[in-house]
Order: sequence, then structure tokens, then C-alpha cells
Amino acid sequence: MTLAATPAPAPEHRFSFGLWTVGHPGHDPFGAAVRTPLDPAEMVRRLADLGAWGVSFHDDDLVPPELDASEREARLARFRKALDETGMVVSMGTTNLFWNPVFKEGAFTANSRTVRRLALAKTMRAIDLAAEFGAPTYVFWGGREGVEAMAAKPAGDALDRFREAIDFLCAYVGDKGYGMRFALEPKPNEPRGDTFLPTVGHMLAFIERLEQPEMVGVNPEVAHETMAGLSFYHAVAQALWAGKLFHIDLNAQKIGRYDQDLRFGSEGIKDAFFLVRLLEAGGYGGPRHFDARPYRVETGEGVWEFAAGCMHTYLALAEAAKRFDADAEVRAAMEASGVFELAEPTVGAYSAAAADEVRAESPDTAALAAHCYHNERLDQLAIDTILGLR
Ligand code: GCO
Ligand code: MN
Ligand code: MN
Repeated sequence: MTLAATPAPAPEHRFSFGLWTVGHPGHDPFGAAVRTPLDPAEMVRRLADLGAWGVSFHDDDLVPPELDASEREARLARFRKALDETGMVVSMGTTNLFWNPVFKEGAFTANSRTVRRLALAKTMRAIDLAAEFGAPTYVFWGGREGVEAMAAKPAGDALDRFREAIDFLCAYVGDKGYGMRFALEPKPNEPRGDTFLPTVGHMLAFIERLEQPEMVGVNPEVAHETMAGLSFYHAVAQALWAGKLFHIDLNAQKIGRYDQDLRFGSEGIKDAFFLVRLLEAGGYGGPRHFDARPYRVETGEGVWEFAAGCMHTYLALAEAAKRFDADAEVRAAMEASGVFELAEPTVGAYSAAAADEVRAESPDTAALAAHCYHNERLDQLAIDTILGLR
């Protein structure tokens, strides 16, 4: 691999990792942990050495609930020191509302009102913690917000309770003057049989029904749309178009499987190429955030090879995307495919005259139907670029 041909990861690239990603001990539903837990401060230092810019955390990653007050203070102090000494930032905070068995039936959408209030209280404390470390974005992934037995949870009521929670927490952040924005993360299923708000499209529609929709955007994840058999590229494109791409979870996933959370770019390389091209050219200014896990067979240095690989592939694809867009033959193939004509308005605003004009046209439909768009040529040029042949 020509590592030298690709720029080295640097803070300006805004690469960020969840503490739960490089810190994942490798347990799965069939087997126990294979890696020893890492201290957040150590993760910050190792990631900084690799050229990352930030970290994100769940409340329980940074401060495991079993710690006593003095252990908590010591862990937070080590974390703060590591941030200060490396210049790393906290790019995002979130709440673990899925691990503790008390949330097994749901958190914001639990049937139990007591559990719902507990979820709100835990989230407010976690928001305080994220604010303490300057996180500009707060993510909501509704891990347990779903159901298996459809009769057990009326979906409309559950959505009302979800909306109530997000409205309440938006107001909490305003009241405290934290200035954070929220990013909602959809997932179709796992760990629940069905999850509410399963895709980016569902989330975008939900956001418009909130009290402060301008404060709330989405956090799409490669693995989650892919699990649903949808195009992650188009989900991200629509979120950008709607001005709602507040955050992103980068990883890789084979279609039709459980949530694999693989190293970025390790599967679906063509989709990854177009995703990176979109993020780099499409006006996304947020973190390039990795929510992936090392293979379970990795220990020790393998974890850092995983993290370096995520960033390396991203930068290699960003370089490839630049080559693609600067390539004269690609421009010509785009022209032949009619790419640039799509940017021209079809008719503009309605007027009776415009309507008459459109109706009076009689284009050569036989010629239009026979037209070749040369999409094969254009796509082959993309493949050749990804293969490093151009
Ligand atoms: C998953 C999710 C989580 C969330 C994280 C932050 O499928 O496990 O992607 O990793 O992103 O909880 O909210
Ligand atoms: Mn995620
Ligand atoms: Mn995931």
C-alpha cells in the first residue's frame, strides 16, 4: 500500500473517534471480552499521536457508573490533562441509555413513566458532562427505543414521548446556555426487533415536528442505512440538502447483516468513495467521526492499526475524489451524461405564460428516447480512479 502517496492525518482533517470504538473490549453476543479496558486519557494520547483531532463519549465511557467519587474525579482529571497536553477536542457527547437493564423496555419511549423520567435525568447529567468538556454536538441514538411485540407499544404514543423528551432537552440546553446542537441517529433494528425512527428519512420528518427544529439535525451511520438496504450516500445527500447533517458516524457494513461497525472503507469501497467526495465537496464542516470497532481478533497494537486505517482510507479516497473531479475525461463523460444540465431550473416559478410555453413545446421524443447517456463510461472512470488507474 502506498501510504506515502496520501497526506498524513492531521487535526485540520477533523478526525474523531468514540471512546467506545478504540476502547471496545471486543465482547459480542457469543463471546466475552478479548481486550483489556483502556483509560480515556490513554486513548486520547494514542489517537493524537496518529493525527486525530477529537474524541466523543457516552457518559458511561468517560465515567463508568461503578466508580466512586474520588475515582471519578481522578479519571476526569487524567482525561482533561490528556486533552490539554495534546490539543485534542471533545467533538460530541451522548448518553448510554441501552446498557443498564433498567432501560430494557425503552428509555424515552419506555412504557414506564418512572423509567422515562430516569432516562431524562441521566441525559441531563450527561449533557452537563459533555458541556463541561465543550462538546458542540449531542447525539441521540435510541438503542432501546423499539419493540418486538407490536401490541405492547402503540407507535404514535411512543413517538409522542420521544418528541416530548427531545423538546424538553432542547429547552434544558437553552436554559443552561450550553449552545449545543442535537443530532439524532437512526438505526432500523438491533438491539430491538424494530426501532422507532429507523432511517434518515424518518428522522428528517420527525425533526420538522419538534418545537425547535432548527436546533436538531441527524447523525447518519454508514452501517445503519446499509442494514436497511438503503443508499447511505443518498441519505447523507438529502440530509445535507436539508441543512441537517450535523454529525456523521463513519464505518463499513455488508448489506443484510447485523450491525458490523467495520473499519471505514473496508467494505463497499465505491460507496465510500462517493461518500467522501460528497462530504469533502458538499459543504459538510463537522467532524469526520468514526463509530467502528476493531475486528475481535485484534489486541494491543491492532487497535491502533484499525484507527490509523480508518483515517488513511478516508484521506486516500479524498485524494481520489479530487483526481476524479479534476480529470478532463471525467468532465467530458459527465457532460455526455447530462450532469451539468440537471443544475439548470426546469421552468422556474409558476406563471400562466410559463405553463402555456411548456405545453406548447413539442420536442423530438423519439430522439430523446434513443439518446445514450454514457453512464457506463462515467462509472468505469470512477472505478478506474478508485483502482488507482487514473
Ligand atoms: C450502535 C450505535 C452507537 C451510537 C452511539 C452514540 O449501533 O451501537 O451506532 O454506536 O452511535 O451509542 O450514540
Ligand atoms: Mn453510531
Ligand atoms: Mn452502529
